[in-house]
Amino acid sequence: SLPKVVITRPLPEAGLSQLREQVQLVENKKDRPMQRTELLEAVQDAHGVIGLLTDRIDAEFFDAAPKLVGYANYAVGYDNIDVTEATRRGIPVSNTPDVLTRATAELAWGLLFAVARRIVETDGVMRSGHWPGWGPMQYMGMDVSGRTLGIVGAGRIGTAMALMSRGFDMPVLYLESPSGRRNQILESKVNAQCVSWEELLQRSDFVSVHCPLTPATRHLFDRRAFRKMKNSAILINTARGPVIKEDDLVAALREGDIAGAGLDVYEKEPVMADGLAALQQAVLLPHVGSATHTTREAMAELAARNLLAMLHGTVPPTCLNPEVLA
Ligand code: GLV
Ligand code: GLV
Repeated sequence: SLPKVVITRPLPEAGLSQLREQVQLVENKKDRPMQRTELLEAVQDAHGVIGLLTDRIDAEFFDAAPKLVGYANYAVGYDNIDVTEATRRGIPVSNTPDVLTRATAELAWGLLFAVARRIVETDGVMRSGHWPGWGPMQYMGMDVSGRTLGIVGAGRIGTAMALMSRGFDMPVLYLESPSGRRNQILESKVNAQCVSWEELLQRSDFVSVHCPLTPATRHLFDRRAFRKMKNSAILINTARGPVIKEDDLVAALREGDIAGAGLDVYEKEPVMADGLAALQQAVLLPHVGSATHTTREAMAELAARNLLAMLHGTVPPTCLNPEVLA
């Protein structure tokens, strides 16, 4: 009989056709995250699972799925997966890098411009019917061209975001990666400068966050960090919410430590910190970094390819722990 694969929430169909031919798919048809007990019950006799960043893939999950041969995450971020535990059990796990790099980088730019030029706030003025007509002192924002862009997390998405600054002639700063490797692409293509954390905070007009969520990056941006930034600085986060201590961000925006923020992710999704929604200098999006039709289809296809490889015992294209298959 065909192996059984659980998909924890409806995904774009175009990416799933190959999988559909080769396995017995069991799909959660409800467009909401599965409750924990629902998930643990659904995976009881599953050979494979395609899950979401909202599903916690840990020892309890693996215990509930004794037949599991592989797990494919429908996300590039994998802070929801205990990879060490998966590896200990010899279970391959995968994510969806590359296919969503440009979409996420583009959204970071969308947020950057929306905050700098007050696009959401002033759209509200038009809709309210209260625009009195053009005025020389109205709705002034901040120039983007020529300003300094600081990248926190110069990996795939951070690099793509920074490369897109070429049209705006921006000096680019970035942090050394934890491995100590320099980003040759950024240094050669946009003359990017590798700087310290302090220097990045002090010199950047825009800071864009693209690092993964790890113990080292949790609450990287707290009140101390905001106080080091320029009062005119704008912070963009399309990575993971907990990288920013959200209560501290609200305080920093209220008190003018920084000028604005564009957020696509939150510390306790789907909830936002008290006070954030009332701040006009923040533009707030519902975690849509990868949400374009073609990107979401490509993510489904990549997750499906990863899972099929796991079921066949071959190395998946974007495996997080390929050593378990060696
Ligand atoms: C989305 O947040 C992802 O990690 O793909
Ligand atoms: C503004 O509309 C300008 O032409 O400067």
